[in-house]
Amino acid sequence: MLSSILAAAIAVGVAAAATPKPPTLSFLYSINISMSAPQDIGTTPTGSRGILPIIGGTFAGPKLSGNVTAGLDWGLTDSKGTFSPEAVYVLETTDGARIMVTERGRAPNVNIQFDTGSANYSWLNTAVAYASGGPTAGGVSLDVWQLTPPAA
Ligand SMILES: *[C@@H]1O[C@H](CO)[C@@H](O)[C@H](O)[C@H]1NC(C)=O
Ligand SMILES: *[C@@H]1O[C@H](CO)[C@@H](O)[C@H](O)[C@H]1NC(C)=O
Ligand SMILES: *[C@@H]1O[C@H](CO)[C@@H](O)[C@H](O)[C@H]1NC(C)=O
Repeated sequence: MLSSILAAAIAVGVAAAATPKPPTLSFLYSINISMSAPQDIGTTPTGSRGILPIIGGTFAGPKLSGNVTAGLDWGLTDSKGTFSPEAVYVLETTDGARIMVTERGRAPNVNIQFDTGSANYSWLNTAVAYASGGPTAGGVSLDVWQLTPPAA
């Protein structure tokens, strides 16, 4: 009797701990970022720091496409060799809007947020995006996905 009550209590506990519904991912765009030669700051107390000027690029997706106009990545490589990007750059859309991108992460995982005054793209101001990718010959390529909460 006692053991069946215990078993029921445990079953309830397990049910309560069931995996919550995951957020959904919607594809925003793919981006090729071009960078000029890094300026090496050397090994600092927090890791090896490089300043990477972002000099151009292109991005394309179902709801926004255009060019990368300018930016800077001041990422850090830690003692284990993990690169943590920290970057700000500007997307210029084909319809003339400017969108500031703030990027942080631990390679190969990147978190992205947006700021824009454009009414056409104001929905990006509350968006949080996940990006994955890696280095290319002249910069970085990323695939960017918007995270949205699970349906209620
Ligand atoms: C990024 O570069 C790759 C390789 O050159 C190319 O296939 C792709 O179309 C480019 N994507 C964009 C958005 O420019
Ligand atoms: C992107 O850059 C290309 C080549 O420099 C240029 O022809 C095009 O007009 C630019 N597009 C935007 C949206 O700025
Ligand atoms: C909004 O998008 C439309 C269609 O692409 C474009 O014609 C218009 O100039 C854009 N407006 C602003 C304020 O960016």
